[in-house]
Amino acid sequence: MSDVDAQKRAAGEAAAALVESGMVVGLGTGSTAAWFVKALGARGLDIVCVATSQATADLASSLGMTVGELGETRTIDLTVDGADEIGPGLSLIKGAGGALLREKLVWEASRRCVVIADAAKSVTTLGKFPLSIEVVAFGHKTTSLRICDTLSEFEIAMMPRLRVKDGAPVRTDGGNLIYDAACGRIEEPAALGAALKSLTGVVEHGLFLDLADQALIGTADGVTTLEP
Ligand code: A5P
Repeated sequence: MSDVDAQKRAAGEAAAALVESGMVVGLGTGSTAAWFVKALGARGLDIVCVATSQATADLASSLGMTVGELGETRTIDLTVDGADEIGPGLSLIKGAGGALLREKLVWEASRRCVVIADAAKSVTTLGKFPLSIEVVAFGHKTTSLRICDTLSEFEIAMMPRLRVKDGAPVRTDGGNLIYDAACGRIEEPAALGAALKSLTGVVEHGLFLDLADQALIGTADGVTTLEP
């Protein structure tokens, strides 16, 4: 196992230790969240899970965990999920796995959110990692031009790129498309997020601000805890 994978695994296992029987637990998406799900499944607790993607739902079900729908259960007690970048105040970029919309729905329905990651995810300014922006398919090229205009208002000069895999546009679980914006530096994440969200055709963006209550970061020396 690589050092990075060992850090992801350590963070996932530390987060699994936070869960108690009787909880409703939000399950994140991605390679780090998968370590959490596996560690949680191994504990055999009496819990109900809400998954942020079909891939995570499939993994949890394969481990014998009970997976419910968002809204079927009472408030989610704890959600644990990965991130692409962790910035000041536990501001986050998420969405490389394409699950940002479901992730944000689950995070916002949760009493407590814990982000788990390897050490390389910590940054002083968000934006080096491309920002995922989910858009409806109809008119997406026009929407991407409007996203470009909005980015330029924040002195971010770049054209977002349609996410493609194996020669075809990537579709989210909701059937939408994703544009990736390599912003470089995002100096005003809250204002940028609000501006993107106001564009017709934009469904969601990967800026998760004021949502994480705690971060568990896997490092070469063990798991470090961060608060906002
Ligand atoms: C999924 O849409 C993403 O938000 C992931 O949580 C994020 O990309 C982190 O993924 P890894 O844990 O695989 O790095």
